[in-house]
Amino acid sequence: MRSGTVRNKRKLDEDWSFYKGEIRIPYAVKAGMTGGITDAGVLRDGEWLDIAYHDRGMGEQKLEWTSVSLPHDWCVEQQYVQDELLGARDGSHGYLPGGIGFYRRTFTLPAEAAGSKWRIRFDGVSGTSTVWVNGHLIGSHHGGYIGFSYDLSDVLRYGDEGVNVILVKVDATECEGWWYEGCGIYRHVWLENTDLVHVAEYGTYVTTPEVAKEQATVNIRTRIRNEYTEDLPVTLRTVIYDGTGVQISAGSVDAHAQWYAETELEQSFQVVQPKLWSPDTPYLYKAESTVICEGKELDRYETVFGIRSIRFDAGEGFFLNGEPLLIKGTCNHQDFAGVGVALPDSLIEYKLRLLKEMGSNAYRSAHHPPTPELLDICDRIGMLVMDENRKLDSSPNGLSQLERMLYRDRNHPSIIIWSLENEEVLEGTVTGARILKTLADTTRRIDPTRPTCAALNHGWYENGYNDAVEITGYNYGHRDHLDLRDHAQHPERLMIGSECASYTATRGIYEDDPAKGYCSEYGTNIPSWGCTPQQAWSDLVNNRFLTGVFMWTGFDYRGEPTPYLWPCINSHFGLMDTCGFPKDSYYYMKAVWQEEPVVHVLPHWNWPGSEGKPIEVRVFANTDTVELSLNGRSLGEQQVEKTGYLSWEVNYEPGELKAVGKHGKLTVAEKAVVTAGQPYRIALFPDRQEGRADGSDTIPVRVAVLDRQGHIVPTADNEIRFEVTGAGKLLGVGNGNPSSHEADKSTLRRAFNGWCLALIQTSSEEGAIQLKAVSAGLAGAETVIQANFKDNS
Ligand code: GAL
Repeated sequence: MRSGTVRNKRKLDEDWSFYKGEIRIPYAVKAGMTGGITDAGVLRDGEWLDIAYHDRGMGEQKLEWTSVSLPHDWCVEQQYVQDELLGARDGSHGYLPGGIGFYRRTFTLPAEAAGSKWRIRFDGVSGTSTVWVNGHLIGSHHGGYIGFSYDLSDVLRYGDEGVNVILVKVDATECEGWWYEGCGIYRHVWLENTDLVHVAEYGTYVTTPEVAKEQATVNIRTRIRNEYTEDLPVTLRTVIYDGTGVQISAGSVDAHAQWYAETELEQSFQVVQPKLWSPDTPYLYKAESTVICEGKELDRYETVFGIRSIRFDAGEGFFLNGEPLLIKGTCNHQDFAGVGVALPDSLIEYKLRLLKEMGSNAYRSAHHPPTPELLDICDRIGMLVMDENRKLDSSPNGLSQLERMLYRDRNHPSIIIWSLENEEVLEGTVTGARILKTLADTTRRIDPTRPTCAALNHGWYENGYNDAVEITGYNYGHRDHLDLRDHAQHPERLMIGSECASYTATRGIYEDDPAKGYCSEYGTNIPSWGCTPQQAWSDLVNNRFLTGVFMWTGFDYRGEPTPYLWPCINSHFGLMDTCGFPKDSYYYMKAVWQEEPVVHVLPHWNWPGSEGKPIEVRVFANTDTVELSLNGRSLGEQQVEKTGYLSWEVNYEPGELKAVGKHGKLTVAEKAVVTAGQPYRIALFPDRQEGRADGSDTIPVRVAVLDRQGHIVPTADNEIRFEVTGAGKLLGVGNGNPSSHEADKSTLRRAFNGWCLALIQTSSEEGAIQLKAVSAGLAGAETVIQANFKDNS
């Protein structure tokens, strides 16, 4: 008798309890026997249930559980410590302690739920996790950046059997990387129910072997899993829908699904006049796979895909759909102000949108696979992706992590490159070359449609290291013109600027300040291995065989304070700070990366005490010429050099410094910096005035300190207090100051050079969310965000 359960997937993000600290787990549950049975054969349910349901561990241990929802990062809730005791979690992790935490959640299932398949999926847990369900040790996972799932069908309780309890221990004492990694269940958790016959996990593989304007071939391989104890006749029906939901093709194939096995079926479809996917036209199709057995529909599974072709050329670089395209990329870690690594999907989208608005068309997920939703968004908004494996590791766990990334991600049209490692010590060694070859061969077996790459900083051509991959990545290849020299010697190699610039600059700062840990936006303190954005970009423009640049980084991130350590707690490599506020170099990238006219002037124009003294004024622009004027007097017009910047020496006098960009004689863009007066009032700039009432949607509100005339005060650091009432809450705050030790989970935040950020999160109720911002001596401000059930973001 088939259960006929059609797939049901639900998010398990709400209603978790969290305990920060160690809990002693009874030996029998921890490791000894399944289900907490002692060797005397007695069910030690009492002890187990104490941990699972009550506020008591074994013995007298009192447990303080708090309610949390996922994604959750307990690391960011703690205090910064400059302490040896942090061990591995030192400055490179942002001076925030790791530790151990427990999560538990209960749920019930109806009696009819028995007999079908139940799988729990964790998209990412930072730390080593151990999962018990109803006292059964289900599994341990090491590796914070790729998901893992467990079949729970046998151990769940159905109907009268009782309540189900999931307990997850996260040990985040150690760390994997050299950046802020957060702690805890920082991505979504899913509970998925299917029939015993179903499309296997990540069981579809869509490729587009022939892509032309008139017609494209879409091949789909589908793995059907039969967990009944008999072979079954099945029919797989696949329907292709276009982006508007109109059916454009369909086909069925019959098969004999062997019991306890996976059967792979292949189908091919022609799509006439396909709409090709690209960053400018991110058109998506959908394949719906239905599995039918004995007239009953047993599974329905959807795969979103795009139709596009990619080609890399050793001389000309990258081609998308036959057209050359310069890869304008940024590398990014996953954190953000106010939340650590626990980003709601809408905040991930916000970050990607800011990058796209800067003119970027590519994202390198450094140095690990991203959260799955990031890839969905890249597909949808049009952002190319270099998807990166965590490390050079061909151990069973290392290979399994790579394989899970490949199976999970290979249908995303946005992904154009698999990066297999970054700056590993074993680069250029015999052992390293063997491991890299195993990773590359594994990748080609699972997805031969995209090239492999390694992001190297040494040993490129030693011991045949980079022969293992198709594309040689250059991290900081500009050093001694290494990349150009290598090209001359190896003109057949595909190359890419996998990591470029590392330009250290603190937003709104124009003088290095070692005591505070700030770096000037003029770039007077960039690391020895780094270079200016101008050099990184002009190298590519002048040498197209370099294919693309991935600027290190799009956003500042916690950890890796460079060049200064404490009190500095985050990096300042970003084109934007941790809140997404643009630095000056953001405007350089915008000027060279996109078409719309841009003129940007630096520094700000508030230099009391410097009257009459010379100040270097720089202008980034993509217009033909720029004329600079101070208080209405022209300081001269200069011709724009397309990959550089313009510079004037100006004797300071307060007032208005204005740059006017012209195409020929026509003014097409202008920007003025004005000497601001004293801080007078707060202004709020919500990213959106509407949100989804789904308990997750997060609306960033930019908060500025203005003078009486409405000019941003570029040095203001007033402390602002936030009050949120109505159908939402304050999720976190930030200000982009790399040396701020203020809490991100707080109602208070100082402005930093005129700006700070408040993150407002909707609840699951419709209604208005009022945000009020007040500060001693300033006029306050209020704004309202309307949360609705319908998707109107
Ligand atoms: C690279 C490395 C990155 C980051 C960066 C800082 O060498 O791959 O993870 O550390 O340097 O400049």
